[in-house]
Amino acid sequence: MTHRREFLQMTTASLFGLSLLPKRRSFKLTISNPIKPLVISTWDFGLQANAAAWEILNNGGRALDAVEAGVRVPEADPNIQTIGLGGLPDRDGHVTLDACIMDEHGNAGSVACLEHIVHAISVARKVMEKTPHVMLAGEGALQFALSQGFQKQNLLTPASEKAWKEWLKKADYHPVINIENQLAPATPNTMPGNSFNHDTIGMLAIDQQGNLSGACSTSGLAFKMHGRVGDSPIVGAGLFVDNEVGAATATGVGEANMRICGTHTVVELMRQGYDPEQACRLALERLVNKDPDYARSIQLAFLAVRKDGTIGAYALQKGFRYAVYTPDVPNELRESKSFY
Ligand code: GLY
Repeated sequence: MTHRREFLQMTTASLFGLSLLPKRRSFKLTISNPIKPLVISTWDFGLQANAAAWEILNNGGRALDAVEAGVRVPEADPNIQTIGLGGLPDRDGHVTLDACIMDEHGNAGSVACLEHIVHAISVARKVMEKTPHVMLAGEGALQFALSQGFQKQNLLTPASEKAWKEWLKKADYHPVINIENQLAPATPNTMPGNSFNHDTIGMLAIDQQGNLSGACSTSGLAFKMHGRVGDSPIVGAGLFVDNEVGAATATGVGEANMRICGTHTVVELMRQGYDPEQACRLALERLVNKDPDYARSIQLAFLAVRKDGTIGAYALQKGFRYAVYTPDVPNELRESKSFY
């Protein structure tokens, strides 16, 4: 409880414009030799996505165009059962997509619970560029997409329908680690032995002008309740870009991430002077400290890049991989450190 004297002190301080907040760690990022262009993205399917983004970055294109082109690759791949076409449906059989995009000016667009449109990321970009809003959801998002010329199609592939019908036999819903992966077959884009190869494509890029953008897209948790929206379309949870500081994206159980506004937290920690890996770890630590049993039972991972091109990642569980493409690193997979 605030006592009267403290309250008066606070009021007096506010009146004179004095801040009672602790002094911020002083940090000034010096960029002497930035790494650019650069693109990073989550999971093994990030390799193919990076290759598409690199085409644009290497030709002097804008980071925003690169991340949109990159994310469209797994969205169109019917063998990837956690994004776009062929995504595993909700428990009622609907494939519903979440996506978000942010540019170097801090503009953002997102769609949530979007059905029947493969390239949710491109609809998110249209929301950013053609509407006065940041997010459109459900039927409204679909109507908007159709008005912009996107084609309606069935996203439920025979393989995903079969997995859903198999699941319906027990209809036993436990949002545990890798529920998607337990049901999804290996895809041509996966590498053997990667038990966490699932979930969201999150992509961050720096172009030759040194500007940052980011994008993410997912069909969300397999067999979720109809209407469930995850972290991916939420600015500051699934994705956050600040062109002065850096950018971050997330993969894993969205419910856990939304509670800590994960990617906003990561970027703010980088602003305070933490490097990207430390920032990703510290953001996850909030979850680990608050609810260790829950944190131990799920996967959640962050991937971040600082304005100077320094890259970092951290995960709750082992097995989170991400793809890196820079002038010196021709598209390779790396594995992050983890708590458990
Ligand atoms: N991270 C994706 C989701 O929870 O929907």
